[in-house]
Amino acid sequence: MFNTQTLTTLASLIALVASLPAADPYVTNAPHVRNLDKRASSCTFTAASAASKSVSKCATAVLNNVAVPSGTTLDLSDAADNTHIIFSGTTTFGYKEWEGPLIRISGKGIVVTGTQGHVIDGDGSRWWDGKGSNGGKTKPKFFKAGDLTSSSITGLNIKNTPVQCFSISGANGLVVDSVTIDNSAGASKGHNTDAYDVGTSTGVTISNAIVYNQDDCLAINSGSDITFTGGMCSGGHGLSIGSVGGRSNNDVSNILITNSKIVDSSNGVRIKTVYGATGSVKNVTYSDITLSSITDYGIVIEQDYENGSPTGTPTAGVPITDLTVTGVTGTVDSDANNIYILCAKGACSNWTWNNVKVTGGKTDSKCTNVPSGASC
Ligand SMILES: *[C@@H]1O[C@H](CO)[C@@H](O)[C@H](O)[C@H]1NC(C)=O
Ligand SMILES: *[C@@H]1O[C@H](CO)[C@@H](O)[C@H](O)[C@H]1NC(C)=O
Repeated sequence: MFNTQTLTTLASLIALVASLPAADPYVTNAPHVRNLDKRASSCTFTAASAASKSVSKCATAVLNNVAVPSGTTLDLSDAADNTHIIFSGTTTFGYKEWEGPLIRISGKGIVVTGTQGHVIDGDGSRWWDGKGSNGGKTKPKFFKAGDLTSSSITGLNIKNTPVQCFSISGANGLVVDSVTIDNSAGASKGHNTDAYDVGTSTGVTISNAIVYNQDDCLAINSGSDITFTGGMCSGGHGLSIGSVGGRSNNDVSNILITNSKIVDSSNGVRIKTVYGATGSVKNVTYSDITLSSITDYGIVIEQDYENGSPTGTPTAGVPITDLTVTGVTGTVDSDANNIYILCAKGACSNWTWNNVKVTGGKTDSKCTNVPSGASC
């Protein structure tokens, strides 16, 4: 028989269930799940506004063929801890010249996935004018992954972003795995379509990325304990640290970029620190990177960066220390430079280079202050 305590527990459960919010038209409770959480167990949204408004009530939120209206964000930043967000069908966005982002996700323990065959389609050609974020039409950023803690984004299929794709900032423990970003349709007019911009984040792993784009495949401008592994980058500017300097956070440390391929790109491995700025780049490893069909530089490390046109004069305010480059091999085009290193005096130190074999291009004659261990 029931004892008093069991009865009390049952009574409070009944009270809890009775106190659940009335069903939202967009929210359906899966009947087979016994749900002691205050959130509905599973919600399916077909409208972006409903998703933004009600995501906090869902343990699982399915975005089913959502057409996001122009000038608005599919904003899921109200998701409660441990929410599972699932992209299903085709996600589209209305056209407007604005800053974006088109999607915003933040929170703790957030798990983002996509169903088989889904696509998140930015239809970037409506904005592409060859000018990227340097002019022309104002183009919305795509996916703001802000302040994600102990979270993951897995298996998304993203196409044709207007300009930069992922802005990862304020992350603390984030895995981005097996995400495809295919901006190959932007080959002539897409510009600044960075795949992963990472700043002010700790403990980020980006694995098995497939990227076709027209700017950095990865650009880390600040943060620590960041790994990029198993990636394939095509069409863009390579795997970059930087530009570092001139932002509120200008320190990069403990970075591992490994086991990746870079093809049909202007650069392979790249570190750029901003002319006249301060900050630090410390303990960065590039290992097991293969290059092919590189048009500008196989490896480029420069301390003179300015958007658009490097000054040619390196400055020492952002030293690059404890850099390991190992197993970076492959070929660049005949009119490209194999390796270019432009350091200010004393600002590049404790570098270890092993098995670096970049061939096919020219030997750069302007390499300056190359630290021992490395060579152009
Ligand atoms: C250097 O960075 C790696 C990650 O690439 C990390 O495992 C290691 O602990 C760091 N070393 C130091 C001295 O912080
Ligand atoms: C040089 O770099 C290595 C590898 O990152 C690191 O373990 C070591 O502590 C550094 N040495 C100095 C003197 O900074």
